Amino acid sequence: MGVVGQWFFLAFLVIRAKAAQQVPDVHRCRRCKDCQITNSGGSVSNDDIVLASIPSDASSGSFGPAIFGRRWDLIPSCQQCQGCSTRLESIKAGFKLYNKTFALEPPMSSSSTYVFQATTDALPPGQRAVVKVFCVPPSDDPWSLLSAVNRIQACSARAYKRTQLVLALYHIGQDCGMTDLLPKMWVANVTGVIPTGETSGRVISWLGLWAQRVQGLSLRSFLSTRQLPPQLVMDTMHHKLNSTQVVLAAIFDLLTSQRDGHTKNIFIQEDGQIKLIDIEDALGLQWTYWGINSVLIPTTKRHEATRRLKGRERLTQLLDYRCQLAGSSKILGTNYPPAVSQCLTKIASKTVAEVKEYYQIPNLFQARTLKTRAQDMLTKGFEWTYLYGEPRNYPGAFMHLRSPPSPPLCCKFEWHEDSGVECSHPPENPSF
Ligand SMILES: *[C@@H]1O[C@H](CO)[C@@H](O)[C@H](O)[C@H]1NC(C)=O
Ligand SMILES: *[C@@H]1O[C@H](CO)[C@@H](O)[C@H](O)[C@H]1NC(C)=O
Ligand SMILES: *[C@@H]1O[C@H](CO)[C@@H](O)[C@H](O)[C@H]1NC(C)=O
Repeated sequence: MGVVGQWFFLAFLVIRAKAAQQVPDVHRCRRCKDCQITNSGGSVSNDDIVLASIPSDASSGSFGPAIFGRRWDLIPSCQQCQGCSTRLESIKAGFKLYNKTFALEPPMSSSSTYVFQATTDALPPGQRAVVKVFCVPPSDDPWSLLSAVNRIQACSARAYKRTQLVLALYHIGQDCGMTDLLPKMWVANVTGVIPTGETSGRVISWLGLWAQRVQGLSLRSFLSTRQLPPQLVMDTMHHKLNSTQVVLAAIFDLLTSQRDGHTKNIFIQEDGQIKLIDIEDALGLQWTYWGINSVLIPTTKRHEATRRLKGRERLTQLLDYRCQLAGSSKILGTNYPPAVSQCLTKIASKTVAEVKEYYQIPNLFQARTLKTRAQDMLTKGFEWTYLYGEPRNYPGAFMHLRSPPSPPLCCKFEWHEDSGVECSHPPENPSF
């Protein structure tokens, strides 16, 4: 190597060293292949989890990218960057249960809402979180992004309200002695990159909705997967299913006027405890006057559909709260657990405006729905409320109401190699 060659080689080394020092901050990149986690810890504290409130400095623009006044076409795609707080992982990564590997079901969501899993210091070691991020722009082509400004703004405002509602429902659950029924939830910044797919590498740095990942399978998967032996499934449903929680879940769905209560949103853990996820389609959304639709509430379309299930999925019928009540009455009436009676009394005694303020419910209409439900459940009882309470269902194609309700099918099921799941004795049909 000549003198000139040596000089060039040295210059090359210097430039390379400089480049290594200057790993750009993630906020300077539109996409980033490899983002170093250098910002961990600081963003989430245990208070975020305990209070589960929207951060006080958040605005309706905090749930989407801050793209105003930035020249996106000048923001580069980076190979490497630093400053991420969270390593986002695909939700489809396998996990172990019953000594078998399962994949998480891809959650149903709109095209701009992404769901990931992640680890966080905010949870005890070994527990993982699910992170919902809203308003991810459809493409990073600069023109479509600029034309998307209004859409992102509107999306973020909607996500803000939706998150407010989720947290309100979470606090209602906590107030009514249902803490075990809902995964922990909180709102915190997510600074990370999308791990896979078409938008892989895209930088996210805005507020997301975090939840503790539930250890279990959705009831739908639990009952339908061939990965589990039938005996284990039968045993769990008959002997481990937590009856108290089944009744509490029905109370929660009625009180909050749940419209999306299907068996993919009810999780069952190995120990038989249940958890409710995706609870936010509740308290009567503005666009339609549809009261309630949940497998847990008799008279509704989803509940009635459980009667037609075949095979192992028939065990869904054991989620009928009437089959899980202690004693032989099969009617809940106003015999609520003490914590429920207390919270119903508390809600009913407030004005609609006070209810809205107390739970930080996004709008008055939803606060009125909650108050009306609480009053009805307290004074007229559980069964009256799902039959006649407002907002109510009506007989008809969409607003299903079966009146009188079909009687519960409280079978003791048995497994037969040839015929599958059978009722071992005729279901008890109480007068109702
Ligand atoms: C779990 O699975 C592994 C491998 O399939 C097996 O060796 C082990 O005995 C199983 N453990 C239990 C408790 O079933
Ligand atoms: C989230 O990030 C934004 C922008 O970086 C910042 O202004 C805000 O204070 C952060 N919020 C929280 C709760 O950390
Ligand atoms: C059943 O659920 C209730 C309410 O969440 C809880 O207090 C109780 O410990 C649970 N029972 C079992 C056996 O897990």
